[in-house]
Amino acid sequence: MELGTVRDIPTPALVLDRAALDRNIARMAAFFAEGPCRLRPHFKAHKTPEIAKRQLAAGSCTGLTCATVGEAEIAAGLCDDILVANEVVTAAKCARVAALAGRVRVTTAVDSLAGLEAMSRAARDRGVRIGVLIDLNVGQGRCGVEPGEAAVTLGAHAAQADGIVLRGVMGYEGHLQPVRDRVERATRTLRAMEGLVTTAAQLRSSGLPCEVVSAGGTGTYDISGRVEGVTEIQAGSYALMDTDYTAVGVPFEPAFSLLGTVVSRPTRERCVADCGHKSTTKDHGLPSVRGIEGASVTSLNDEHATIALPPDSTVAIGDLIELLPSHIDPTINLHDVFYVVDGDRVIDIWPIAARGYADQRARR
Ligand SMILES: Cc1ncc(COP(=O)(O)O)c(C=O)c1O
Repeated sequence: MELGTVRDIPTPALVLDRAALDRNIARMAAFFAEGPCRLRPHFKAHKTPEIAKRQLAAGSCTGLTCATVGEAEIAAGLCDDILVANEVVTAAKCARVAALAGRVRVTTAVDSLAGLEAMSRAARDRGVRIGVLIDLNVGQGRCGVEPGEAAVTLGAHAAQADGIVLRGVMGYEGHLQPVRDRVERATRTLRAMEGLVTTAAQLRSSGLPCEVVSAGGTGTYDISGRVEGVTEIQAGSYALMDTDYTAVGVPFEPAFSLLGTVVSRPTRERCVADCGHKSTTKDHGLPSVRGIEGASVTSLNDEHATIALPPDSTVAIGDLIELLPSHIDPTINLHDVFYVVDGDRVIDIWPIAARGYADQRARR
């Protein structure tokens, strides 16, 4: 099928540089080929089966990480070891996890007795076994029980629960991913990981199993991923990157951008493109303009990106504009497909199959 060139892409659209993606994936796989820790790429970053297949094919992976049951249902078609690194508590969603557990190895995070009991009920009803990791708060202050005694107590309940297999612990140091200073990021991450691996040791010395110690993200993969006792890292953004992570200084390159068309050039210093915040998020800051020296996005509206230009800029109505988003996950979630390019040529179109909430589509 002839897919044309970048000029044929209807904007706004996400454009993916396949060569850059493959370089990022290869670089991360090479890091985890050394040492005992493995990578469990986070599917939530891109929600795209074609990307996950390339991550798995590159090696060094234990399976995939997901944030939602809907993602897990799609990821289960790609590999047979899925971690839902999140709390799943409703009967309906636990039943969906149990259905998946009949097909693949599934593990979920738990941080409460109520959550554990809900998952145990679903496993019993379906006659399957579901893995759990005790989710620890290693400083992010989101979900998770405190490291130490509280975690061991919940672990002991998990080990006794019908249909549940206690597999270990997880602790996501999300608050440390964006820390710009490498020394500070490393020092604080090592401290956070201490709570995680110490709790793992306490579980084992209490006679409880703890085969998995899961942590990490793109900002800390090479810190947490070298801590003795951490067995897997849940990084996701590295594959495609965003400007927020570029500023952190991790060794991955931007592999996707948002393509827009200039629809207005009201003044010499300003143009407006058709890629507003219905096509890119701004929770981590405005996107950057790629390829035009001195240009910057000054505001986003629903369907408008207002861009400040150097006055001598030749940008004209109808020109294409490329923006680099500041936060990959929620930006990609706004789109249905990636236009995959090799230079100027569109070589493929990849569905972002797990975007949005799959359960809503199933009810239509
Ligand atoms: C539980 C969990 N693990 C890992 C990650 C790391 O992802 P990334 O590498 O995209 O920062 C996230 C991101 O939010 C997360 O919520």
